[in-house]
Amino acid sequence: MTRQMHLNLFIQSRGHHEASWRSPLSSPLPLTDVFYYQDIAQKAEAGLFDSIFLADQLAIGEEVKQGPRTALEPLTLLGALAVSTEYIGLIATASTTYSEPFNLARQFASLDHISNGRIGWNIVTSWLAAAANNYGGDTQVSHADRYERADEYMTVVNGLWDSWAADAILDNRESGLYSRAERVRAINHEGEYYRVKGPLTIPRSPQGRPVLVQAGSSDTGRDFAARYGEAVFTAQLEKATSQEFYKDLKARAVAYGRAEDQILVLPGLSPLIASSEAEATRMADELGELADPEIGRKRISDRFGGYDFSHLPLDKPLVPEDFPDPETVEAARSRTEVILGLVRREKPTLRELLAKLAGARGHYTYAGTPDQVANLMEEWFTDGAADGFNVMPPLLPAMLEVFIDEVIPLLQQRGLFRTSYEGNTLRTHYKLAEPVSQFD
Ligand SMILES: Cc1cc2nc3c(=O)[nH]c(=O)nc-3n(C[C@H](O)[C@H](O)[C@H](O)COP(=O)(O)O)c2cc1C
Repeated sequence: MTRQMHLNLFIQSRGHHEASWRSPLSSPLPLTDVFYYQDIAQKAEAGLFDSIFLADQLAIGEEVKQGPRTALEPLTLLGALAVSTEYIGLIATASTTYSEPFNLARQFASLDHISNGRIGWNIVTSWLAAAANNYGGDTQVSHADRYERADEYMTVVNGLWDSWAADAILDNRESGLYSRAERVRAINHEGEYYRVKGPLTIPRSPQGRPVLVQAGSSDTGRDFAARYGEAVFTAQLEKATSQEFYKDLKARAVAYGRAEDQILVLPGLSPLIASSEAEATRMADELGELADPEIGRKRISDRFGGYDFSHLPLDKPLVPEDFPDPETVEAARSRTEVILGLVRREKPTLRELLAKLAGARGHYTYAGTPDQVANLMEEWFTDGAADGFNVMPPLLPAMLEVFIDEVIPLLQQRGLFRTSYEGNTLRTHYKLAEPVSQFD
């Protein structure tokens, strides 16, 4: 069978364009209404997407006045989506820096049971500096420390998910034996950051472990992804940088003894689709006019860990010296590299840069016809830049509907995308192996 692409739907706000929430084309429902998310997840399932994904931030930042982002806590929301869908994979973000591994292991094991094996965890170390203030800290935990802690965190949660053998439960009413005690083990972890005895309070879940998703692209982030990630989200503004990332990540995974096809690279793609290129560009321009550059300025400052851009005039072409060195950024380091790459290549004014980032925060944006979008996806997929895409519709649900109705059939005609689900776990959709438990 020929290789087929994987599609994840990234659900955020009323779409990924910064001004989507104001557009007459986006959903009229409140962002706290569970029906909004259920409807989108069901549409994505009808379109045969592999999965949906919910991001999360642990502080609202300064942009609350004009920019909704996450409105509901993702794990709670996944519980609701698990019972309103049947096949589609469900991925939620949770932080290794600001949560206890025992709590997180319980939550994801429970969700994997509730969804019958459709759960994925987007492992983040939380780049937003303001998050620290909500968890007893004064300043941000450094980039290096966050990843070091995350490493130990993974040992703990993987140990906990493995602490029950798949055959531990007997549930035998006649013999009076509920489980085989010798098939449930403590983990007795004592490390630098965590002391966890275990075992987990929850029997082994259908997938053994959630599918592990990762989205860090810095050098340390790539190394972490290569060790643990089974699907990797990434922001790339050019096919060439995505090819470099793809090659590098697969090589790093192989160096850790992993197979190349067990780590999927899914760059973000935010397509604005219309019946002609001119119409798509007009819609993109219309959306752009609703975006406020001052919100963009705050957001970019957050990415750079609070760096002050207030002195920069909006209409002067930017130079790299206007930005701090990404190596010194403790926040979203790899995204700052993406932004600086764009500045070096295109020399935009701050206004132009912010307009570009308003589209999808540094992910690839594209305005065109269904055919053009399908061509672009095929090209990235066949040229070693992607195993599929993190689809980020600029407007929800409108641009998801057009994508499903117009682009997916083209991908299917070209043999590039499934025409039915072959299984009902996220591991089967992503073609990932079952994790080997310590009992096997
Ligand atoms: C598609 C995508 C989604 C992400 N979602 C989140 C998120 O929900 N919460 C978060 O704190 N970071 C999120 N990140 C950021 C990364 O997890 C990572 O922390 C960030 O890129 C900084 O690490 P790095 O310098 O290693 O890349 C996301 C990144 C990407 C590409």
